[in-house]
Amino acid sequence: MVVRSMTWLRARVSRGWLLLLVPAAGLFTGCNELPGARTDPANTFAYGGTMARELGDLYMMTFWWATAVFVVTMAAFFLALWRFRERPGNPIPRQVHGNTTFEVMWTIAPTLVLVIVGIPTIQKLFELEHPPAGQPPLEVEVIGHQWWWEFRYPAELGGFVTASDLHVPVGRPVQLALSSEDVVHSFWPPRLAGKRDVFPVPATTPWRKNHMWFNVAEPGIYYGQCAEFCGIQHAQMRFFVVAQPENEFLAWAQRQSQPSPNASNSEGQAAFLRGGCVACHVVNTSTPDPNQKLLGPNLAHVGSRLSLAGGTLENNDENLARWLHDPQAVKPGTKMVLPNPLSEEDIQTLVRYLRSLQ
Ligand code: CUA
Repeated sequence: MVVRSMTWLRARVSRGWLLLLVPAAGLFTGCNELPGARTDPANTFAYGGTMARELGDLYMMTFWWATAVFVVTMAAFFLALWRFRERPGNPIPRQVHGNTTFEVMWTIAPTLVLVIVGIPTIQKLFELEHPPAGQPPLEVEVIGHQWWWEFRYPAELGGFVTASDLHVPVGRPVQLALSSEDVVHSFWPPRLAGKRDVFPVPATTPWRKNHMWFNVAEPGIYYGQCAEFCGIQHAQMRFFVVAQPENEFLAWAQRQSQPSPNASNSEGQAAFLRGGCVACHVVNTSTPDPNQKLLGPNLAHVGSRLSLAGGTLENNDENLARWLHDPQAVKPGTKMVLPNPLSEEDIQTLVRYLRSLQ
């Protein structure tokens, strides 16, 4: 039987098939990249902090137990195939049904493995529910929108609102309260923590908000992605966690809590009004009303952000002009609609104005 199968297999595996293994092997070696220069920003094994490492350890523990089960089961399977293979002249073997010893063994063994994996998993789930005690966490309100992320910082930092870039201090736990303005999203910074659903929460039941925490060990930029299908631009609903040393973070927060020096530029403000931008955006965050619901991201310091259009474009003059020229062409389905197409002159003015809001 085995011999026959091998002949069948050999006849069908040509060199062409083997060539397919080369790119497949490349894919797997890609997973082994170590933290450093990131060609794999969504690699969940390149642990960026405690939460990610704890989850990764739990995953690896489960993985090795599953591997052991696979190896033992497959070894027994192939041993049986070989030991009881058909040989010329052999009579039909004795037919047996049920064997109490084996039945008991293969009930107890998987139960044991499940218990060994289950106990530390449940322990970890409870342990990771709250950030480690000792350091007061930075608390940020995260609001999901189709298709961008809004971040509201606590009152003691100035209560400012920003979008797409979540700045955090290195080493300190960050506690997020998650809710959505529209449909269900999922907040996922792959190198820092797991995924957490973000759903609409009525103002009357604020305790229903989902929470998550993480901390970041090294300064850097960590990629984030919406992980729950939420409409046509789900894939372009990204964010960046910008981890900075505490003093740099505080300096950033200080700048964010004040209006940008250029916000009152009259030429820019006139174009902002003419273009109808004011219907959905503001350029001042110094004292945001917590109940203020704007359709579009707060643009107070948009010039200092890493990306435009919720992580769709790199933030530069050329891309901003492209976006203002025709948002639907850049991100089809986006809620950003221009009441009237902007004049070329207004686009140039707005690019200068918005990019100056540092
Ligand atoms: Cu938001 Cu997918």
